[in-house]
Amino acid sequence: MRIGVIGAGYVGLVTGVCLAEMGNHVTLADINHDKIAALQNGQVPIFEPGLDELLHRNVRGGRLFFTTAVATAASDQEAVFLAVGTPMGDAGAADLRYIYAAAETVAAALTRPAVIVIKSTVPAGTNAALTEKIAPLAPVEFAVVSNPEFLKEGAAVADFMKPDRVVIGSRERWAEKVMRQLYAPFLRNDHPLMTMDPESAEMVKYASNAMLACRISFVNEMARLCERLGADIEAVRRGVAADARIGGAFLFAGLGYGGSCFPKDVRALMHLAGDAGVDAPLCAAIDAVNVEQRLALLPFIDRHFPRDLTGKKFAVWGLAFKPQTDDVREAPALYLIKELLARGAAVAAYDPQARDTARRELSADGVNGGVDLVTDAYAALTDADALIICTEWNEFRSPDFALIKQALKQPLIFDGRNLYSPAVAAKNGFTYYSIGRKAVSSSN
Ligand SMILES: NC(=O)c1ccc[n+]([C@@H]2O[C@H](COP(=O)([O-])OP(=O)(O)OC[C@H]3O[C@@H](n4cnc5c(N)ncnc54)[C@H](O)[C@@H]3O)[C@@H](O)[C@H]2O)c1
Repeated sequence: MRIGVIGAGYVGLVTGVCLAEMGNHVTLADINHDKIAALQNGQVPIFEPGLDELLHRNVRGGRLFFTTAVATAASDQEAVFLAVGTPMGDAGAADLRYIYAAAETVAAALTRPAVIVIKSTVPAGTNAALTEKIAPLAPVEFAVVSNPEFLKEGAAVADFMKPDRVVIGSRERWAEKVMRQLYAPFLRNDHPLMTMDPESAEMVKYASNAMLACRISFVNEMARLCERLGADIEAVRRGVAADARIGGAFLFAGLGYGGSCFPKDVRALMHLAGDAGVDAPLCAAIDAVNVEQRLALLPFIDRHFPRDLTGKKFAVWGLAFKPQTDDVREAPALYLIKELLARGAAVAAYDPQARDTARRELSADGVNGGVDLVTDAYAALTDADALIICTEWNEFRSPDFALIKQALKQPLIFDGRNLYSPAVAAKNGFTYYSIGRKAVSSSN
């Protein structure tokens, strides 16, 4: 099938590459000239496991093309995916400016009947409003289908290739048929393709993300209680997760969720509820718990260094909002770093993949000095007063404790992801603070 994909970010790029991998002819467009120039030069602008190889194979195979001209990517296609950003607007609502702009260009450029597929996450009602808006612009028949994306950054290719489910919100049978044909190669595992009205499809995405975010905020609230009551959240989590009705996914205590989806989608849902005149106290609570949780290590840091942090230096391991990605949008690490700097501390930070993205994000926030972004985990430790762990990259899981101890001014770890057993940390001579567990010191 001939397909256009508009937006070459985490979702658009993965969507385009995976559709090309199944033999489709895909043209990917993005208005970001640097991104497209990089792709045309064979560079993949994001870190996503498995993406490089797949992308190059399909470019070589003559099935995958890149352009800055959205109209070119839309003309002569049977389906055009809209995968542009829908970021958080000022009041928390989804900012739909980019998707409307892209849809208008696409509609005007259609040269044969096509399905316009909304892949971006958009509030219920967007499909209908967008259809109405672009109808006068389209010279040929079209249908707008809602097809929310559920991939996880860090496992995006695998998730797209073998989705748990595909959700199609459509009012047109012919468009649904096109979507079934497109997705058939991805559903050979017999996972379901679900059809429904567009409003429901749009809601499935928000409700799924809110549910996942809810589990994270819930376990973090339990962690706060455990801390106060002398319980251990890791033991509690195991006990809770063993209940088949509950399970263990998304139940890890830590510095809360970040990324480009959960924070903005929970807020957008709150906003959507407000607009609809519906009380949504649970969504507000999920968000409030998370906002506090991003800085959950600060009280420990303040307790340990009671006067102030002027002249102190902290080594931070992990900048990405989660492992296996270079995405730092809404990353708890950056919130914590900004607080440390505001209190007069210096920071040396290491992340296996997110150094460049963190540098860009920090300088966009006006933080230019004070953070030394190093290329080696152990180099960050030199002369630091403590190590702070913000992202659970595998390479941090079994560190050389002797080397850490040697490099730090004192053996002190603040672990925002509960990577180590407190007993092991103490045995190795560390004072060790983690989330929802008793702090330990070498003398314990
Ligand atoms: N990132 C995820 O894990 C994920 C998962 C599921 C759904 N989503 C949703 O998918 C959408 C895209 O997310 P993302 O993370 O890929 O965003 P992103 O910021 O990585 O990429 C968006 C891209 O769209 C481009 N763009 C903006 N306006 C454009 C236009 N008019 N024409 C062409 N290109 C344009 C931008 O330049 C950018 O490269 C969002 O709605 C998001 O909520 C994201």
